[in-house]
Amino acid sequence: MDNQRMLSGGAGEEERFEEQSLRPQTLKQYIGQSQVKQNLSIFIEAALKREETLDHVLLYGPPGLGKTTMAAVIANEMGAGFRTTSGPAIERPGDLAAVLTALAPGDVLFIDEIHRLPRSIEEVLYPAMEDFCLDIVIGKGPEARSVRLDLPPFTLIGATTRAGALSAPLRDRFGVHARLEYYTTSQLADVVLRTAEIFSTAIDSEGAEELARRSRGTPRIANRLLKRVRDYAQVRGDGRITLEKANEALELLQVDRLGLDHIDHKLLTTIIGRFKGGPVGLDTLAASIGEESTTIEDVYEPYLLQIGFLQRTPRGRIALPSAYDHFQLEVPSP
Ligand SMILES: Nc1ncnc2c1ncn2[C@@H]1O[C@H](COP(=O)(O)OP(=O)(O)O)[C@@H](O)[C@H]1O
Ligand SMILES: [Mg+2]
Repeated sequence: MDNQRMLSGGAGEEERFEEQSLRPQTLKQYIGQSQVKQNLSIFIEAALKREETLDHVLLYGPPGLGKTTMAAVIANEMGAGFRTTSGPAIERPGDLAAVLTALAPGDVLFIDEIHRLPRSIEEVLYPAMEDFCLDIVIGKGPEARSVRLDLPPFTLIGATTRAGALSAPLRDRFGVHARLEYYTTSQLADVVLRTAEIFSTAIDSEGAEELARRSRGTPRIANRLLKRVRDYAQVRGDGRITLEKANEALELLQVDRLGLDHIDHKLLTTIIGRFKGGPVGLDTLAASIGEESTTIEDVYEPYLLQIGFLQRTPRGRIALPSAYDHFQLEVPSP
């Protein structure tokens, strides 16, 4: 079992397909994120009353927190068609033009990883977002002329793991900015119970809670751990997921009691041991543990920052006292 994949918030290929069946369809079914849900439900109701499209929405937050799910829920609540693409899939302005001209009135267009859209393509998007029109150049050289095409009104929903990586002009064109937060243990326990029900897996509340505690605040990880623990309970038990079975399985999977895996451990113990607790620069740290800087930044660090194990400073990363505690190490005196 590849632990790195086990605990990353990102989705694998097969998983993406299976996730479709696990996704909540309505705001009511969508667990947690109450602030975002409250705001959206007002904007949606207002747009429906005015018989207009919803303003463009930017969703941001770490992988696996429910951005794609939320986009589909919004389309569903609007009674709108849902079309999806992603930043890396759009390579040329023509690719975006093809997507935009295929929209039906009122559609929701979801662009995942929107921070990876090339700048030249962002510029095609601006008039589409502001005025629902498209400026395209036909022909080459002296023959070339620009024509303006009208587009049907639509709602763009962009998702990104890094709001900071978005250009300011693009960011400003979204009327609604929604930041998804890590889930609490009790919210994740609800996610686990809901998924277990869809899978017809028996699980008790202590078992669900234990899985929730070790899921790094992330529904995608909660669902993934549930599947592995379900296998374990089937082979080493009567199929029922109890606290005992959950603990045994998670130990086997090398997921510690906070949901940290061997890469988190390596990252933290390297800062503590080799760099005397830091500060250590991101690239130096990445080289020392043999991971990509961007993987550390996007996948590993956000949760360690959230639980107060790590701090980002201008001079580099610092391990905080609770990280020392976790490994039962003495915090060095200054
Ligand atoms: N609020 C939620 N309630 C229930 N399940 C959720 C929720 N958010 C996410 N999930 C589940 O977690 C998985 C990952 O969510 P997804 O929307 O793909 O995350 P993201 O797009 O942010 O990476 C989905 O399969 C979905 O079923
Ligand atoms: Mg997604």
